[in-house]
Amino acid sequence: MKTPSWLSAFGLSKPPFAKDLSDSVLWLPTARKGVVDELVTGCADRDHVLLVGEPGVGKTCVLRALRHRLPEAGFRLTYCHNVTLGRRDFYRQLCLALGLTPKATAAALFYAVSSHVEELGRERIHPVFLLDEAHLLHQDVLDHLHILANYQWDQKPLLSIVLVGLPELVNRLQLHRNRAFWSRIHTRLSLGDALPDDTAQYLDYRLKQASCKRDVFSENAVALLHEAAVGRLRDIDRLATAALKSASRRKRKIVDRSLIATVIDRQSMTPNL
Ligand SMILES: Nc1ncnc2c1ncn2[C@@H]1O[C@H](COP(=O)(O)OP(=O)(O)O)[C@@H](O)[C@H]1O
Ligand SMILES: [Mg+2]
Repeated sequence: MKTPSWLSAFGLSKPPFAKDLSDSVLWLPTARKGVVDELVTGCADRDHVLLVGEPGVGKTCVLRALRHRLPEAGFRLTYCHNVTLGRRDFYRQLCLALGLTPKATAAALFYAVSSHVEELGRERIHPVFLLDEAHLLHQDVLDHLHILANYQWDQKPLLSIVLVGLPELVNRLQLHRNRAFWSRIHTRLSLGDALPDDTAQYLDYRLKQASCKRDVFSENAVALLHEAAVGRLRDIDRLATAALKSASRRKRKIVDRSLIATVIDRQSMTPNL
């Protein structure tokens, strides 16, 4: 397929801000790597883990970095991205994700999942259930997580549950009703928005990954991009891509501040008065 002109205009081998990047080339500056390290340690210590952050800061990519770091032999990661289910369907989905035959009743589903966890324990494999978008968990599922995590009179930490979601998940877990599971989450992590320097580094990193050999965004353009995206990587991706396309249409070699301002204005979708 022919390379789109907006890529060739900047000598790019692929769309630089696309979401399909492999686990091994994720951008992990010191602070972010620190979060991944703590997540790895939490799973190795068989803790339950909470990871929160605003939309687009890079939480799911941190999970992919975790997948890349945990040795395959000792851990079995199961990723659930749809937690908007009642308890029975939640366990049915978990059964399917674990490769088990789904059972008819809630009790049988629960038994199948917990027996599987115990079996993995006997094989010295630590299962980790990653529940993404966990702020959307149904209350009846949340009520049940500490029961799912209870093995042999709550003596054996055979399972790590990793809850990932928006910051409001913390408020929810802190509710009196949820204290049983909240008190069992020993590793509590927050992924912050990128700082101005991070945004500059991130742009540079991703452009280089796409074989870009020169500066594309002016310093002022980066500052405005950062301000508009408030350090959320998904917003940076979207605005930076739109800016590259717009610059290529206008035959500009550099993305400057005024071009970013135009893109921000267009993307805000504010109707012209
Ligand atoms: N560590 C990273 N390395 C490279 N790109 C990243 C990284 N984290 C996030 N991104 C970019 O930001 C986008 C949003 O990240 P994502 O993890 O989906 O955010 P969240 O789960 O917090 O909503 C990704 O599609 C990717 O393009
Ligand atoms: Mg996500």
